[in-house]
Amino acid sequence: MSEIVSDKCLDVLFRTARTHSAWLDKPVSDVTLEALYDLLRAGPTSANSSPARFVFVKSPEGKERLRPHLSAGNTDKTMQAPVTAIVAYDTAFTEFLPKLFPHEPDAPSWFEGDEEKMFMNAFRNGTLQGAYLILAARALGLDCGPMSGFDAAGVDASFFPDGRWRSNFLCNLGYGDPGLLPPRNPRLDFDEAARIV
Ligand SMILES: Cc1cc2nc3c(=O)[nH]c(=O)nc-3n(C[C@H](O)[C@H](O)[C@H](O)COP(=O)(O)O)c2cc1C
Repeated sequence: MSEIVSDKCLDVLFRTARTHSAWLDKPVSDVTLEALYDLLRAGPTSANSSPARFVFVKSPEGKERLRPHLSAGNTDKTMQAPVTAIVAYDTAFTEFLPKLFPHEPDAPSWFEGDEEKMFMNAFRNGTLQGAYLILAARALGLDCGPMSGFDAAGVDASFFPDGRWRSNFLCNLGYGDPGLLPPRNPRLDFDEAARIV
C-alpha cells in the first residue's frame, strides 16, 4: 500500500505551489533537467505508450526561435525564464511500443490505420505527461509557468520541421520570484466539480 506523503510535500506539490511569471536570475542545470525527466517518465500512460516529447529551450538562440510564436502576454516572461519546455507529442509513438509494452507484441496494431485513435492517445497521454512534468518540477524545487498562448504551427515549423513531433503546450521552468505573485484565484468546491455516485 502506498504511503501518504508529508504535509510539507502536499504544500510543495499543490497547496502553496503557484504559476510563476517572474523569474529569479538563477540557472537550471542540465543535470536538474535530466532528473526532472527521470521522475516524470515514471508517471502512467495508456499501454505505457509515453507519447510526450520534450524540448528544453535554454539557449538565447533557442529562445529567439520561440519569440515570434509567443502571444504578447507570454513573451517577456518566456524570454526571462531560465528554461522553456516545449511539451510535445510524438505522432508516431507506436514505434516504441515493442520496447515499452513488450508483453503485448500486437500493441502497435491497436492504433495503426486509425488516425483519430492515434491522435487521441498521443494528446491525452502526452498532456498527462505534461502534468507529471509540472509536479516533478515542483518536487525538485523548481517553479513552473505553463502556457497555451502561442502559435503551435509556428513552433512546430521551427522546432519540428519533419512533422513527427507536435507541440502541445509550453512550460517555463526556473526559480520564481515569490514577491511578484498575484493573489491566488479560487478553485471550485467539491460540490461544484465532483460527484460521488
Ligand atoms: C495548459 C495551461 C495553459 C496556460 N496558458 C497560459 C498562458 O498562455 N498565459 C498565462 O499567462 N498563463 C497561462 N496558464 C496559467 C494559468 O492561468 C494558471 O496556471 C492558473 O490560473 C492557476 O494559477 P496558480 O497556479 O497560480 O493558482 C496556463 C496554465 C495551463 C495549465
